[in-house]
Amino acid sequence: MQQNTPSVTYTTCPMTRPLSGSIRVPGDKSISHRSIMLGALAEGVTEITGFLQGEDSLNTLRCFRAMGVPITEPVDGYVRVEGVGLYGLKAPAAPLYVGNSGTSMRLMAGILAGQAFETVLTGDESLSRRPMKRVIDPLTQMGAVIESAEGRAPLRILGGQRLKGIDYRLPMASAQVKSCLLLAGLYAEGQTCVTEPAPTRDHTERMLHGFGYAVARDGARACVQGGGKLTARAIDVPADISSAAFFLVAASIAPGADLTLRHVGMNPTRTGVIDILRLMGADITVETPREVGGEPVADLRVKSAALRGVTIPEALVPLAIDEFPVLFVAAACATGRTILTGAEELRVKESDRIAVMADGLTALGIQAEATADGMIIEGAGDQALPFGQARIDCHGDHRIAMAFAVAGLRAAGTIIIEHCEFVDTSFPGFATLFQTVGGGLQVTQQESGA
Ligand code: S3P
Repeated sequence: MQQNTPSVTYTTCPMTRPLSGSIRVPGDKSISHRSIMLGALAEGVTEITGFLQGEDSLNTLRCFRAMGVPITEPVDGYVRVEGVGLYGLKAPAAPLYVGNSGTSMRLMAGILAGQAFETVLTGDESLSRRPMKRVIDPLTQMGAVIESAEGRAPLRILGGQRLKGIDYRLPMASAQVKSCLLLAGLYAEGQTCVTEPAPTRDHTERMLHGFGYAVARDGARACVQGGGKLTARAIDVPADISSAAFFLVAASIAPGADLTLRHVGMNPTRTGVIDILRLMGADITVETPREVGGEPVADLRVKSAALRGVTIPEALVPLAIDEFPVLFVAAACATGRTILTGAEELRVKESDRIAVMADGLTALGIQAEATADGMIIEGAGDQALPFGQARIDCHGDHRIAMAFAVAGLRAAGTIIIEHCEFVDTSFPGFATLFQTVGGGLQVTQQESGA
């Protein structure tokens, strides 16, 4: 968050009508970041439509501007990036601030490791607590020199190093680390290969390919050869399935709902939320599947359904990694027990999503037990209103805030959610869209420090 951002509180209230309508949620955050990064490093002009005008992707945009890339101010999701080529970035005058955005910091670390100049990457309080050693270690193996205090931001990336390709086996399923190394690989001598322990989102590989840069894929291993070039192309960013997820759960748990979400990105490395909700008995129909600029897209129609608790298959965890806060809300509204394992990565997201969600659900009267790598939730779906009332601090985490706003649809009392200004990192306009389809939410703003 920018300093002095007003503090925002959500107060849940009863639905104004059964959830209905046809909406398009904002652009995909992962693809928006990458469109600026690759557009900046390409030769030629990249025109982006559907760009997410959220704080996270805007921070990426500001950082590349600060490195001399002409980028227009986004208007209704349209952005024009005048690429400067792989070697055209200039030293920024000040540290690069990426706010709350782990994707900006980790992917940019890979790009900046290959530059001739020194940079410092900084972020907000939440980001400064998150692990960066996972990118520092392999980048160091490639020859980068990065200084940090015990593997946390700020990161000082010394420029002017000769990078060499490595063959790296990721210790955790992380698209950010994979992407960081592939981007550093564009600047490295020889080949850079990354093998992932489980499939993670592949937007970087797809977009590199779209920009004419070959990525060799062999099962779980992706490789790039240094020394190529990127050629600008138009990018149509689909709606973010991670933002759509709040409405998929909202319409599943609210009685009488029938909602359509248009133009949602359906990349198979991102659709775990649909698979998990369907295992729970959700009524989701995929309509008019199509492909837009190398990414699959569809409209999703979702109706209320009686959900049941499930044991979530571990293979689906990386494919739904950002959706667990709201999936926990779905589990609380299901009949029977839901068990999640193999999701220790949730502990190092914008907040410790296992601890923060378990605490919040417990405060609302749900039996939720945090485990080292997941959660056990006793669904209270036999009750019309399984949630009670509580005051929740979202701990600087946008998805925690939105998940509890969705819980408000089935709450007997009022849920007061503090610090919802963080919602703007990924989903500007969430509260208005939620109200538009019939959800009950009051929004109050207070100047920070007031
Ligand atoms: C992202 C990858 C995921 C995800 C994050 C966005 C990306 O993080 O949680 O919101 O754009 O590559 P990890 O790669 O750390 O799992």
